[in-house]
Amino acid sequence: MSIVEHRVLGDHRGQLIAIEGARDIPFEIKRIFYIYGAQPNTLRGQHAHHKTRQYLIAVSGSCNVTLDDGKQRITYSLHQPDIGLLQEPLVWGTMHDFSHDCVLVVLASEHYEENDYIRNYAHFQEMFK
Ligand code: TYD
Repeated sequence: MSIVEHRVLGDHRGQLIAIEGARDIPFEIKRIFYIYGAQPNTLRGQHAHHKTRQYLIAVSGSCNVTLDDGKQRITYSLHQPDIGLLQEPLVWGTMHDFSHDCVLVVLASEHYEENDYIRNYAHFQEMFK
């Protein structure tokens, strides 16, 4: 779990950020999804994955992401498009405090597979006993 800062390739025409799988982030990208139009008081995520690694970027606006590895809970602020957050498997993640203009892009290491989700927090906690 860590915040990564990306190089901004900017000039007078504007800014550009490039993220390459297995180069700028530590996995090949199999899937991209994005969340937008989330209400400020909405909680999203609230699950962990068995295998999927995820990389989260607020390309517009801002949100907070709380990651819980079974030992500690840390809240990260994603508020600029040149920073991203790595969420490893077996880490419970909750996205919250979305700004109205937030577009949260998630790069994922695996295709969508419901069996990869741990959606019950009690089951998640059991895994660390
Ligand atoms: P959900 O897991 O509830 O979103 P989040 O945890 O990010 O708040 O997903 C919402 C719906 O979208 C649910 O029916 C599953 C589906 N979905 C896909 O089909 N593919 C995907 O890659 C994702 C992330 C979700």
